[in-house]
Amino acid sequence: MSTIHLIRKFSTKPPSRFYRNLFFSTFTKESTPDLSRTTRTISTQRFISSSIWRFPQSNLSPNRGFSTSVETNPTDKSFGRIHVDVQSGVIVERIHKIESEEETVSGVNVETSGDGKVVREESEAEKEAWRILEDAVVRYCGSPVGTVAANDPGDKMPLNYDQVFIRDFVPSALAFLLKGEGDIVRNFLLHTLQLQSWEKTVDCYSPGQGLMPASFKVRTVALDENTTEEVLDPDFGESAIGRVAPVDSGLWWIILLRAYGKITGDFSLQERIDVQTGIKLIMNLCLADGFDMFPTLLVTDGSCMIDRRMGIHGHPLEIQSLFYSALRCSREMLSVNDSSKNLVRAINNRLSALSFHIREYYWVDIKKINEIYRYKTEEYSTDATNKFNIYPEQIPPWLMDWIPEQGGYLLGNLQPAHMDFRFFSLGNFWSIVSSLGTPKQNEAILNLIEAKWEDIIGNMPLKICYPALEYDDWRIITGSDPKNTPWSYHNSGSWPTLLWQFTLACMKMGRPELAEKAIALAEKRLMADRWPEYYDTRSGKFIGKQSRLYQTWTVAGFLTSKLLLANPEMASLLFWEEDYELLDICACGLRKSDRKKCSRVAAKTQILVR
Ligand code: GLC
Repeated sequence: MSTIHLIRKFSTKPPSRFYRNLFFSTFTKESTPDLSRTTRTISTQRFISSSIWRFPQSNLSPNRGFSTSVETNPTDKSFGRIHVDVQSGVIVERIHKIESEEETVSGVNVETSGDGKVVREESEAEKEAWRILEDAVVRYCGSPVGTVAANDPGDKMPLNYDQVFIRDFVPSALAFLLKGEGDIVRNFLLHTLQLQSWEKTVDCYSPGQGLMPASFKVRTVALDENTTEEVLDPDFGESAIGRVAPVDSGLWWIILLRAYGKITGDFSLQERIDVQTGIKLIMNLCLADGFDMFPTLLVTDGSCMIDRRMGIHGHPLEIQSLFYSALRCSREMLSVNDSSKNLVRAINNRLSALSFHIREYYWVDIKKINEIYRYKTEEYSTDATNKFNIYPEQIPPWLMDWIPEQGGYLLGNLQPAHMDFRFFSLGNFWSIVSSLGTPKQNEAILNLIEAKWEDIIGNMPLKICYPALEYDDWRIITGSDPKNTPWSYHNSGSWPTLLWQFTLACMKMGRPELAEKAIALAEKRLMADRWPEYYDTRSGKFIGKQSRLYQTWTVAGFLTSKLLLANPEMASLLFWEEDYELLDICACGLRKSDRKKCSRVAAKTQILVR
């Protein structure tokens, strides 16, 4: 059995300047990491079996002595244990506690067989989706390490869609994990970790050390006439359109690392020294001191799923909610010792400040809009109401009519004298999933989606944002981007991949029926339309103008949504409840002082904490 050093495999590029000797990891080529303690391989012929598999959860210890004792609250609902009939490839779920004869597993067709088993058969769309996902798997030195972004046989110009994108792989990873296939996810996490310390430069300038690539590709290079070797070639934004660093990649990596541990029960991965260092590097990069006055993360335009200019530079909600989730994950996963205690303290302080800031300043509903409408401006003092000097004229006319009586949402972005009132789906969903919003706000976001179903879901879930930038706004803000024309692509196109995040948010809030409705809509069209990347028009009626077909995260998002719905116990491992401990942390130390009041304590009267 030959042992290869991972770093060695990246040998077409000079060794990293940041090369970390200490964390140099070895990997055996033939053996994928040993999960035997916690998992069993189910598929023999096919990489993916057509059945749900559960990793034994016995080693899910609620408190593993890490940085937080606060764990996701176990849900009090009674869930079904799931068993697999590998031979028939049929998902068999045994319901332990049957409340009534009619009980069903949410969102899936179930039938009760004679022996009390609940049998769920995959739809044609699911079967095809698994085939496509399987075909999208990328191998490196014989092991699966990710999935390509799109696998459209008719596409003669795949650009970078033949690469493994970090963010795109997340729904694939969850689908595999929920199927019982942990190796691909583990391999992905370890290989991308090695890429983190890669030498990266754009015109001789290097971004921060903890940066994770947007994507990577497996290339075969010739060593001499007879031998070739495979290398991983990362893209940190230096080839991406606009040359933007993918801020979300590292955040997704941390979120996926936690999900892997939670679902497989294999916590040994996150406990490894090199993995702990990877988390610390990402956190150090995000928590580095700068000129910021706000706890939100300051980024350039296009640093996330929306990776082209769309006016989301500054403090976009999507990044903040992923940042908050990654902070919560890190708090759970970092082992506390002398070398990490300062970082853990910084994480706790940031979590608390960030949630306060978002809950207080990003929230809009009809009452808040009316408040902004009557704002006084040019207020000079530390206790001004209109802290960011927002001019009421900035409230866009569409919003006055659009905002429903019930419900609300978190703003797209907040800067001095600027509120971006667009509704961004991903940021709002992750605020629910991570409990960045208060329980009431989270509930209200789903109320708004229900009230504005036609605008946000329409014919195809889900609008990436609402509404579109049109006319001069489009010209000035997107730079006249022909791909981001109104109601297309990032400019209010509909992205089916967002379904799984919506599903998770709905399940967390106890409203799976909303997700079921959206999934049913998608299922009606996705297979017939050949799994497009995105849809266009106000109501999401048309396949997107430049949409790729057989887009992997469309396929995986659909499958993951189905699997989550069928498996609520697993879904509950992926979201967070309100953490009351965090609400009490305040780093300002002014609480007991008479001279000055803590602005957060004072403001708390206005926000809905519970
Ligand atoms: C586009 C999307 C981006 C995605 C990539 C690969 O660039 O904007 O979010 O990660 O395609 O699918």
